[in-house]
Amino acid sequence: MRLQIAAANWKMNTTPEEGLKLFEHILNLLSTIPENRNSRVIIAPPFTHLHIISESIHAHSKNPRFSNLDISLAAQNCSSETKGAYTGEVSSEMIKNAGTRYVIIGHSERRSYFREDNNCLARKIDRALENNLIPIYCCGETRQERSEKIHFETVKNQVEEGLKHISGEQVKNMVIAYEPVWAIGTGVNATAQEAQEMHAFIRKVIAERCGKEIAAGLSILYGGSCNPKNAKELFECPDIDGGLVGGASLNANDFVEIVKQLKR
Ligand code: PGA
Repeated sequence: MRLQIAAANWKMNTTPEEGLKLFEHILNLLSTIPENRNSRVIIAPPFTHLHIISESIHAHSKNPRFSNLDISLAAQNCSSETKGAYTGEVSSEMIKNAGTRYVIIGHSERRSYFREDNNCLARKIDRALENNLIPIYCCGETRQERSEKIHFETVKNQVEEGLKHISGEQVKNMVIAYEPVWAIGTGVNATAQEAQEMHAFIRKVIAERCGKEIAAGLSILYGGSCNPKNAKELFECPDIDGGLVGGASLNANDFVEIVKQLKR
């Protein structure tokens, strides 16, 4: 079975102190649930928290009570540049050095508020892979695109253009997150049927680009108003390999309830 993932995207929330508390609360709750060897929990806090949470993961990994947990850290963004005079940017190398394993690239909030297009995102993916970070590449259509019935075309373009100059072998080291823009932070999630249909489509696009075997092994996460009530039905779908969770990941109980719904 493909790796099943529950990823917490905290966005621009919590101070470092609050974030550490939230992380430790999540960790304590996770230690009480039955082990799922097929799953991983990823925490994507703001940049300012990466180092302290990485240290906490490291410290807890030595404690037998937490030894069964598979927890990784993600950044929410990285620069498309390597280093130099780019005030305010954070490079993949810096992120990697802070103890991070994953990086979210192309979240719809980055695409819309910061005008990041597929070309810029393709460069970010390059920088991430060069530094052995695993990109979690996000795609998803707007409400308008869905109502115009161009949602498949939109997502296909995002996937093809974002991944255009990387090899199939490199795609193996990625995760894709399908996040319909109309479902993010709105309380209106895609139905399991809508999500499954798009996940199967994305897998087909990857199969055409990289071959069936690589597509079959790729974890594709659903994001957009995922919560403890809808996670089970979404995660049961054959092409949905877990979730990228925003709002509900700021509540330790809710997030761990979602983790519990990952396929076993
Ligand atoms: P949401 O956010 O769960 O609050 O809808 C998901 C995301 O933006 O990754």
